[in-house]
Amino acid sequence: MKVLVIGGGAREHALCRSLSLDPDVSALYCAPGNAGIAEVAELRPVDALDGDAVAALATELGAGLVIVGPEAPLVAGVGDAVRAAGIPVFGPSAEAAQLEGSKAFAKDVMAAAGVPTARSYVCTTPEEVDAALDAFGAPYVVKDDGLAAGKGVVVTEDRAAARAHALGCDRVVIEEYLDGPEVSLFAITDGVTVVPLQPAQDFKRALDGDEGPNTGGMGAYSPLPWADPKLVDEVMELVLQPTVDELRRRGTPFSGLLYAGLAITSRGTRVIEFNARFGDPETQVVLARLRTPLASVLLNAANGTLDAEPALVWREDAAVTVVIASHNYPETPRTGDPIEGLAEVAAEDAPDAYVLHAGTRREGDAVVSAGGRVLSVTATGSDLAQARAKAYKAVARIRLDGSQHRTDIAAKAAEGR
Ligand code: AMP
Ligand code: GLY
Repeated sequence: MKVLVIGGGAREHALCRSLSLDPDVSALYCAPGNAGIAEVAELRPVDALDGDAVAALATELGAGLVIVGPEAPLVAGVGDAVRAAGIPVFGPSAEAAQLEGSKAFAKDVMAAAGVPTARSYVCTTPEEVDAALDAFGAPYVVKDDGLAAGKGVVVTEDRAAARAHALGCDRVVIEEYLDGPEVSLFAITDGVTVVPLQPAQDFKRALDGDEGPNTGGMGAYSPLPWADPKLVDEVMELVLQPTVDELRRRGTPFSGLLYAGLAITSRGTRVIEFNARFGDPETQVVLARLRTPLASVLLNAANGTLDAEPALVWREDAAVTVVIASHNYPETPRTGDPIEGLAEVAAEDAPDAYVLHAGTRREGDAVVSAGGRVLSVTATGSDLAQARAKAYKAVARIRLDGSQHRTDIAAKAAEGR
């Protein structure tokens, strides 16, 4: 099978790495990709938001499966355009991707499906904003209704800052603050059958100790030794299956990757958000642990035959990923800095630790930074402590002027805290 992956982040690098190891995959393409993905897939230039261009590329390549990585093309209907060209797509329709594209839509689906989430108000006027802020009190949680590339959510004790963010959006969801650890649980679905993956935890804040601004994610690990062993079953029953059933009932079935961002609160598990695609950086650790070859699972989801897929097989290993970000990320990341040490990681640390590229590009013989999150250093080990040690050993070999990374990814979990 020829496979085309759309996107060019560390998530797509992780997907391409797994697909490149899958004997069912005869040719692997990525558009637009990045300097690291070029080592495992053939890169093609494309405007990932242009459905017709992606469909034309997939047709030209003879792709038997197209996997759309990021949310923006899904919300823009790229999956629909490729499906209309008769090619199976892993990724939801534009309508179903509204589960991520609109927080208000997601709340409506959850209410209809009886899925536990934070109580919320959808507000469009200053009066509604004030009433909602006062109804919940501090800490305030204010979410831009639309896609905002990780910058749409403000959680703050400061009412004025919460109000200012709300008034800067056309439509906002203001909701109750959820306390407790966060879990990311992904499920693969064809719109009927739902297959959960292993849970992971992401580190959203820029700095150690969960300080600093929110980011796209600075690291992740899996499994979660502290989590209730029944968590996945519970989330399947209370969240994932009812949501998939509700979208099918509405005539807009969701097929692809359903990502539930969860808070484990003292009053039970609550959905913080849904995403309509693999999460980044959680994908890096989840796929590092998946033994089942990926292509047939994703093709079965795309074709509506996921019930034919045998149960997924997981490694006993733990996985940790640490993101290396540019100087000044997440504000105004500096790009164009040379990255050194990649060959040393490949020579010294592989196969247990490896680098997945996010914002990188090739400039002559050099690889330079080209985005906020630059690399994701991923490692597996017999437990989290070992995986962590291997990941940080590889991180220490990477030299990128002004770069930053967290030093506490998976630290508490590895110590059994
Ligand atoms: P989201 O984009 O909805 O995932 O929000 C980004 C981050 O904001 C989440 O990962 C949480 O850390 C935080 N957050 C979102 N909603 C809430 C909430 N209701 N209570 C507490 N924290 C939240
Ligand atoms: N890890 C957060 C996200 O992918 O949105």
